[in-house]
Amino acid sequence: MSSIPDLSVEISGFKMKNPTMLAAGILGVSIPLLRRVLEAGAGGVVTKSIGVGQRKGYETPNIVEVSCGYVNAVGLSNPGIDEFLEELQKSDISDMPIIVSIFGKSEMEFFELVSKLDKTDVKGFELNLSCPHVSGVGAEIGSDPNMVYKITKEVKRCSKKPIFVKISPNVTDHIEIARAAEDGGADGIVAINTLRAMVIDIETGRPILSNRVGGLSGPAIKPVAVRYVYDISRNVKIPVIGCGGINHWEDAIEFMLAGASAVQIGTAIAYKGLNVFNEILYGISEYLKRKGHHSVKEIVGLSHKF
Ligand SMILES: Cc1cc2nc3c(=O)[nH]c(=O)nc-3n(C[C@H](O)[C@H](O)[C@H](O)COP(=O)(O)O)c2cc1C
Repeated sequence: MSSIPDLSVEISGFKMKNPTMLAAGILGVSIPLLRRVLEAGAGGVVTKSIGVGQRKGYETPNIVEVSCGYVNAVGLSNPGIDEFLEELQKSDISDMPIIVSIFGKSEMEFFELVSKLDKTDVKGFELNLSCPHVSGVGAEIGSDPNMVYKITKEVKRCSKKPIFVKISPNVTDHIEIARAAEDGGADGIVAINTLRAMVIDIETGRPILSNRVGGLSGPAIKPVAVRYVYDISRNVKIPVIGCGGINHWEDAIEFMLAGASAVQIGTAIAYKGLNVFNEILYGISEYLKRKGHHSVKEIVGLSHKF
């Protein structure tokens, strides 16, 4: 047997050469840019969340650095589905492991998005049921298990591609939400989106973000995200993709031991650039060799036995 561990993963039909992915919203919707992320080593990429219409998002300041991370309230700025379809038409994406993140206010909006995108070569969908700072969408829908069930079911009805539901840490019972997604037919859960947070300028007394409240990402949320992955992966049968504060290869390993089949990386790109993917992959590979594993799949959920 080869001494090079097998890093490839397949999550409910979504194939990647390794378990690292670009998290939603970090590098937009430009296909050439997303391709650069894959060339830099990522196994898969998730677009910025797309809605039915164009959204400008919030005024600046819409992102602020804090110790251990960032608080952002970008406000789901995006070009809207029709312009995104034009962007897709400009490139051949048939070889790209690309997941489109989508958001909406109702089952009808999700229906519109998925029926338009299903004809393209995108490989699957991530339902953003977890954005913490835009009213009427995201976490407001994602904290209602009935809505999570209905939207997931509707999306499943319109597409045979894998559907991942991204859940919020700003809910009372995340296991109930994950189970509602599973019951609706989700092929995987992504945990977690950002934690609702705010920052105040002590000289002026003003909240810094124009929206006042935003979402905290980065190393500050890693232990929270690890717990979500651990809890959810023990309570649903579908795969879990971990996200939140992954900065080093050790973080990625921790998420996989907690039960993640793959990991998404967002804020770390602001600290380390796109090199972060190769750095993390090298670390994972060396760890697997040192521990005598032949495949990355072997370590998923190993912490559950304790
Ligand atoms: C500037 C910024 C924009 C984001 N936009 C989205 C988005 O459009 N859709 C989404 O589901 N998550 C979005 N997120 C959340 C990330 O995908 C991720 O869940 C979160 O940042 C935690 O991961 P990290 O600590 O590795 O950044 C955004 C995060 C940041 C920092």
